[in-house]
Amino acid sequence: RALHIALMPGDGIGQEVIPAAASALRTLTTSLPHLSFTFTTLPIGFQTFTETGSALPDKTVETLQKECQGALFGAVSSPSHAVKGYNSPIVGLRKKLDLYANIRPVKSVGGKAKLEIPGVDLVIVRENTEDLYVKEERSFDGGGEIGRVAEAIKRISERASRRIARMAGQIAVRREEMRGNKKGMVTITHKSNVLSQTDGLFRSVAREVLTGAEFAGKGLVVEEQIVDSMVYKLFRQPQYYDVVVAPNLYGDILSDGAAALVGSLGLVPSANVGDTFVVGEPCHGSAPDIEGKGIANPIAAIRSAGCMLEFMGEIEGARRIYDAVDEHLREGTVTAVDLGGKAGTAEIVEDILKRL
Ligand code: NAI
Ligand code: MG
Repeated sequence: RALHIALMPGDGIGQEVIPAAASALRTLTTSLPHLSFTFTTLPIGFQTFTETGSALPDKTVETLQKECQGALFGAVSSPSHAVKGYNSPIVGLRKKLDLYANIRPVKSVGGKAKLEIPGVDLVIVRENTEDLYVKEERSFDGGGEIGRVAEAIKRISERASRRIARMAGQIAVRREEMRGNKKGMVTITHKSNVLSQTDGLFRSVAREVLTGAEFAGKGLVVEEQIVDSMVYKLFRQPQYYDVVVAPNLYGDILSDGAAALVGSLGLVPSANVGDTFVVGEPCHGSAPDIEGKGIANPIAAIRSAGCMLEFMGEIEGARRIYDAVDEHLREGTVTAVDLGGKAGTAEIVEDILKRL
């Protein structure tokens, strides 16, 4: 299978870790000759904005849609104050390509990362298009003592809830098959005791899908948990969870929290998945504090290349990347900046490529 993959390093350490992920894909083809890759590098990010006036140039979107089957995205440096004409390009990309699921596997491997909690192996399946992130906010004068008031729309639709629940169910079944006998479980996360309309809809649609005809006889365990007690249990007993499905905001917060369980943001990958396109993306940002020094951990980006392959249906390629990284974390030398080892980016890449 010949795949045309876009590389969008973006800003900061994106420029250092995305080439590492591409080299892992290239190396994979030597042991999996049925696979081949062509790469095209596309501009995106704050640097691109300052040069061209757009953080997500039309040409980038057009090339992705017309020529590529998948992409790897690094990170962008989004200013925390509003800049006229600037919009987060990754949020824009998720909308334009309808990448409705954000999948974040978090796994401990019994490796050398200090602060790693043993036995964690979960996947957060986050709805990626709606909830409070529709960004329909407004503010107005509440009058008198109230002062200014700001409000935001939380939108949940049946369609989005249905497709994210299906995705979570499919992932749980695939993980069950890959693991052998251990049952797949999906935990539906919500706060419908308070938000009975919005989260109530998410909960009931997810339940209906996961206990319905598509998954009948697949042995899936379906349970649900209110999001605040889920945070508690995620910290106390993270080994309990398998697949967690959540609306956008809860999924965002839960997944960054879950990354702390395995020792570093520099280890955690993600995939933005739609019906026709996949963008692999490390969970971390552009890390301006360490950029340009050759010390960033490339593992989140390399694992994201694995995630991209997995959701493009190239399971064997994905498995080989995951295994090479896990083995490296157990046996090789780890990065100094985040994991207490001695290595920089280049040594990590070299060791993983050798194992691949
Ligand atoms: P960050 O993820 O860039 O960095 C947080 C901390 O983790 C820093 O101390 C950094 O050095 C460390 N870190 C991150 N990735 C690492 C890696 N691969 N290896 C070793 N250490 C690593 O988050 P921060 O500092 O809040 O944001 C910096 C910039 O990144 C901001 O402009 C923000 O808007 C942007 N950002 C972009 C994201 C994206 O493009 N998807 C996501 C999050 C932040
Ligand atoms: Mg986040």
